[in-house]
Amino acid sequence: MFRQILSVETSCDDTSVAIVNAEGFVLAQCSASQDLQHAPFGGVVPEVASRNHTIALLPLIEETLKKANLSMNDLDGFTVTNRPGLIGSLIVGVMTVKALSQAYNKPFIGVNHLEGHLLAPFLKDNEYAPPADFNYPYIALAVSGGHSSLYWVEAFNKYTIIGTTKDDAAGEAFDKFAKMLGLPFPGGVNVDRLSKGGDRKKYDFPRGLLHEKNLMMSFSGLKSAAHRLLTKMSDDEKKAETPHLCASFQEAVVETLVGKMTLAAALFKTKKIVITGGVSANSRLREMASEMTAKGYQIVIPPIRYCTDNAGMIGYAGILHLNAGESSPLDQGPASSSYEADFTVRLREQI
Ligand code: KG4
Ligand code: ZN
Repeated sequence: MFRQILSVETSCDDTSVAIVNAEGFVLAQCSASQDLQHAPFGGVVPEVASRNHTIALLPLIEETLKKANLSMNDLDGFTVTNRPGLIGSLIVGVMTVKALSQAYNKPFIGVNHLEGHLLAPFLKDNEYAPPADFNYPYIALAVSGGHSSLYWVEAFNKYTIIGTTKDDAAGEAFDKFAKMLGLPFPGGVNVDRLSKGGDRKKYDFPRGLLHEKNLMMSFSGLKSAAHRLLTKMSDDEKKAETPHLCASFQEAVVETLVGKMTLAAALFKTKKIVITGGVSANSRLREMASEMTAKGYQIVIPPIRYCTDNAGMIGYAGILHLNAGESSPLDQGPASSSYEADFTVRLREQI
């Protein structure tokens, strides 16, 4: 029985370490964002990301142990995101955890990053606990800079991809739109901030695939429409219109996400929905989610520290696998894609 383990997440540009127990309680979590390092390039630069992981990871492991007031001897094993992600970033976490596993003679397991996002609603700590009656099965909307997908989460290790974007991820759309407006990276949070007080209906941006009765999404048409509109505007006009442009763009993204997750809930005859990933920080998405709560849905959005890339969620996924009797062989490497066995894929393209 694994009681508590140390977990490492380095799949993209956040370095994160946590100690998590078998109930999903996060004893400590320490993360380092690399936003400042990537901002001058307007996006994540893989080489810069892996180099920064090598600098940040070991001090974060020490800090996490200290914060939890534990030593390596108090841990029963290790877990690490080994797929999917940027290969150079994944290597740093995987190699470090393998070395720890060997040095301390304790098992480790490599887990899928997206499984972490799907299980994040169960995480708890001294400040947060999910609703007492929350449990499987549920619909999960995972939306970030790298992914926008809908899942049917029936139980631990029983995940079906039921819908996904055909092109850009929702966070990517926010970031590209922000870049067009000259806003700093990462753009989503700035679009959200600047949309306050803006007229959501002033610009009629396309809602890709929203009215098709399936669970597929598309954000590239929206991006092109925004590009066409902005190239016709002068810099002064763009500046003056920024709140309306941001509010209207955000409305198009959020309406699409909410429309598809509502359809998914109807198809799977559930009222339970989890929203996870960096875009779940969006204030308009949260506002629409609370309107749905008033209509009888149970919508669980983990706190931001467990929504953006974090080691807490990886720790919970890892300890569940270890307690199910699994562990990784020493020759398991990082992989840029998910394994075929990770998810059942049943895309609801035609309903
Ligand atoms: O999960 P995350 O931290 O990293 C991955 O991409 O895996 O998500 C980051 C994404 C970025 O695209 C960022 O712009 C977006 O989440 N984001 C937001 C907001 N906060 C972060 N998008 C819209 N509104 C926000 N408030
Ligand atoms: Zn992620």
